[in-house]
Amino acid sequence: KRRIGILTSGGDSQGMNAAVRAVVRMAHVKGLDPWAIYDGYQGLVDNVMRPLAWADVQGLLRLGGTVIGTARCLAFRERAGRLTAAQHLVENGIDALVVIGGDGSLTGADRLRAEWGSLLDELLATNRIDQVQRATYAHLNIVGLVGSIDNDMSSTDMTIGCVSALHRICEAVDAIEATALSHGRAFVVEVMGRHCGWLALTAALASAADWLFVPERPPLVDNWEEEMCAHLKKLKDRGQKKILVIVSEGAIDKNLKPIKSEYVRDLLAAKLKFDARVTTLGHVQRGGSPCFYDRYLGTVQGVRAVDEILRATPETPSPMIGISNNKITVEPLVQAVTLTHAVSTAIDAKDFARAMELRDPEFAT
Ligand code: F6P
Repeated sequence: KRRIGILTSGGDSQGMNAAVRAVVRMAHVKGLDPWAIYDGYQGLVDNVMRPLAWADVQGLLRLGGTVIGTARCLAFRERAGRLTAAQHLVENGIDALVVIGGDGSLTGADRLRAEWGSLLDELLATNRIDQVQRATYAHLNIVGLVGSIDNDMSSTDMTIGCVSALHRICEAVDAIEATALSHGRAFVVEVMGRHCGWLALTAALASAADWLFVPERPPLVDNWEEEMCAHLKKLKDRGQKKILVIVSEGAIDKNLKPIKSEYVRDLLAAKLKFDARVTTLGHVQRGGSPCFYDRYLGTVQGVRAVDEILRATPETPSPMIGISNNKITVEPLVQAVTLTHAVSTAIDAKDFARAMELRDPEFAT
């Protein structure tokens, strides 16, 4: 039976479990032998892996996080770590890998794919594998699924987990809105996303925020503080009781200096005399049960991943499974990784910016 490894890597995201379940079950349907590799690439380096039966993935659809664990593995970033990982894959008879992770994790997968031949040569030269193993495992198939709350990967409209995270943010902001209104306070809500503003942008749209900071569109002027305060003062003078500012954790000014939530809060307090608070939502955005969309996306993409493993030939480039216009897509992983690094964000902010104008015609700057 052909053996395939499944791992989740990088920050966990809602729906990763759905993807694991789908890969495991579809692998069984197709007569393959699915193995879990625990704690992402760390499990490859430390040789922590085991077979998963059909029943092992029961009840996973509704669970947040990832039951097979994840890690940001430093050892795998070095060739020595990848060499040990390759040895463990060969020793365990695994010749295909489904990697569920974000941009960094898929970059790691792509590197392993690119180096595979030379890693095996080195293992053979140092007697860590034999000639038969060198020939049997000459090709490693890797399929990437994008699991991340950040929605920061090119070549897919949505990443597994981003919609659940957004739901969580909306719920939290709705709660904050109620208390802000009651006290007449200004709230600066900081959301995750690393260098990508998708979560902040979509949350601002969904909660009719009064001001927004995202990494992709730094304020165009040096004196953005004055511009923001002038706008928010207008809202206050018009009788608006509360103010909501959303800050993406990666927000920067036009000189690429971080815009800190506490700095924004202090401005609102000093210049506009608001009782102002910061709420950093943090990991609550990542935990918890996945919404329908992430269960769906993890499931259909997991099924497709197994199809792609069966379809792959030594010549096929490793694919990344995405979604575009509601259709599951398959693009070369290397291309998606390169485009992500080149473009740095998967969002098209234009439509969102226009929708934000609905909140207040003067919002657009
Ligand atoms: O990539 C997902 C993410 O949640 C980012 O939004 C955030 O910057 C980062 O991971 C936090 O990482 P950690 O959980 O390691 O603190």
